[in-house]
Amino acid sequence: MNRISLLLAATAVLTIASPSALAAQPGSALLDTYHAAAMKEEPGFRDFSARRGEQFFHAKHGDTSCASCHTDNPKAGGKHAKTGKAIEPLAPVANAKRLSDAAKVEKWFKRNCNDVLQRACTAREKGDFVAWLVSVK
Ligand code: HEC
Repeated sequence: MNRISLLLAATAVLTIASPSALAAQPGSALLDTYHAAAMKEEPGFRDFSARRGEQFFHAKHGDTSCASCHTDNPKAGGKHAKTGKAIEPLAPVANAKRLSDAAKVEKWFKRNCNDVLQRACTAREKGDFVAWLVSVK
């Protein structure tokens, strides 16, 4: 290894290991929590799927889907289907506040999953959904 490639390798290691780089990743703490929960809920669970998360968001249950209030586009602002109140975009790329407050995310999962599915979401459903939101560019 010459001196330049050694320097590049060292920089790469530092960048990957830097805690601030990890903390800046939106949703990463949530994904860790849901991953641990999904491993307990489902024997054989391996990983979340952004594609499944996208399907989950658009899936209709009766007349309602997540998109009923959040629109089909996670980068767009939505409107509450019943009250008409404006809702800011869900994707962190369009709204930096999203997925940064675990208690808030849990509160809204609880309410919205009950509204749409008439039950709580599973850890897998929540993780898939978060994996999809953070993948939106
Ligand atoms: C009846 C309207 C409605 C439906 C349907 C709905 N939501 Fe929401 N959602 C809201 C409102 C209102 C908020 C809170 C206002 C805000 O944060 O802008 C919210 C906030 C959220 C948040 C909080 C994100 C954060 O970091 O602040 C998540 C996650 C979320 N919704 C996911 C979902 C999912 C998943 C579904 C489908 C299972 C869904 N929502 C269906 C109205 C809805």
